[in-house]
Amino acid sequence: MSESSQMEKTGVGIVGMGTVGAGVARLLLDHGDRTARHAGRKLWLTHAVVRDLKKPRDVDLPEGVLTDDLQRLVDDPSVSVVAQLVGGIEPARSIMLQLLESGKDVVTANKALLAQHGPELFDQARELGRSIAFEASVAGGIPIIANISQCLSANQVQSLQGILNGTCNFIVSKMDAEGADYQATLAEAQELGYAEADPTMDVDGTDAAQKLAILAHLAFGARVDWSKIPRRGIDGLQSVDFKYAKQLGYRIKLIAMARLTEAGLSLDVSPMLVKIGQPLAEVRDNYNAVGAVGDAVGPVFFQGQGAGQMPTASAVVADLIDTAVGRTAITFETLELWAEGHDRVGLADAGSLISRYYLRFNVQDVPNVLAQIAGALGKNGISIASVYQHDVDLSQEGIVPVVIVTKRSSQSSVDAALAELKTVSAIDSVAEQFKILD
Ligand code: NAP
Ligand code: HSE
Repeated sequence: MSESSQMEKTGVGIVGMGTVGAGVARLLLDHGDRTARHAGRKLWLTHAVVRDLKKPRDVDLPEGVLTDDLQRLVDDPSVSVVAQLVGGIEPARSIMLQLLESGKDVVTANKALLAQHGPELFDQARELGRSIAFEASVAGGIPIIANISQCLSANQVQSLQGILNGTCNFIVSKMDAEGADYQATLAEAQELGYAEADPTMDVDGTDAAQKLAILAHLAFGARVDWSKIPRRGIDGLQSVDFKYAKQLGYRIKLIAMARLTEAGLSLDVSPMLVKIGQPLAEVRDNYNAVGAVGDAVGPVFFQGQGAGQMPTASAVVADLIDTAVGRTAITFETLELWAEGHDRVGLADAGSLISRYYLRFNVQDVPNVLAQIAGALGKNGISIASVYQHDVDLSQEGIVPVVIVTKRSSQSSVDAALAELKTVSAIDSVAEQFKILD
């Protein structure tokens, strides 16, 4: 008889048996002794709620566990904690409220829901004396929520910069290393279970912005409306920029960053150039990473798989254990997440963000065009660090790509200069702009 069979049991439910839900069930069922050892009690999977009972599932469940009746789980008093692993906003929000109202603590991986309805859900949980744990909602298997909100709590975090979307990092890594095709690589990421049900959320920067809003709340005490974070995704990136970036010694990565500045908290999600050899530039495939600077600890760096079944399930099950043990309830009550009146910092204007820039223009091969570009940049106070005129990859006769790297400038200055240059007839297109991560 195993040691855990003698132990007290905590009933656990799962709602949503897709990629993550099946991974959580597998860890609970295949490694019950391990979770019991860490929780000091047996985590007993009683109900796994799905929409469609006939759909094949990625895990063998004991008889009677699979159900399409959420009410059975809600009404079962032996279940005290539920992993809510349905994506999107509805019915995920209503299910979460129903679970809290029935007295269950909730663990979730749904960052879209928390970024959109965090205040409502957290207020409701507090009112009902319940808790919500959400380690898996940001950066998959990396324990970044616990690190930022607990382990670094002696610090004022000054800045965060990270790769927060596994699907995007998988795609840009393959475009950079193999010249892979964007659409085919996105399909591969979906096949591997990395992407959201609607992968537009991944590739247009929405998912990374939602995760950044959660991290910004934990690190800086700002209640951020994720939709106000300036964001751009990786859809629309062109292979030619991966090539030019590499010639300059950089890789292109989708970076989410937050910085405390004199103007307030500066937030941004966009593809950026990261110097080859810097830790973030070497984060590949479905891996995520977060670098943070704390005023006491200095720089720290976390890396791990940010998407995928078992890395995400690892974070969910750790939350189930913490909740069963009672640790979540203590931190949940202490942190007062998303509570009214807790904004410690305002947001900086997006135009005030200072960076070096990579700018690519497609210009006509005629005299004076470089002078016109330099003139518009100079007029807006932007110094040029280097200019590269590429005579390869001519898409149209007589058009040449010119790449300019600027010195540090504000986003608003760059926007003003590029708006002027759009009207110059010798400039075929202002084809691309990336910030350079320093
Ligand atoms: P998924 O594979 O699409 O699974 C979602 C599951 O929810 C599906 O099985 C779906 O049922 C089920 N569902 C939908 N509505 C339901 C309802 N009313 N009642 C019961 N079940 C319902 O998604 P996933 O990749 O596991 O992601 C789940 C959550 O984790 C999302 O919030 C996602 O953002 C987050 N997350 C995912 C990853 C990852 O790598 N995949 C990583 C971190 C966080 P059917 O099977 O019948 O369609
Ligand atoms: N779709 C998300 C990603 C899952 O690719 O990062 C992890 O949150």
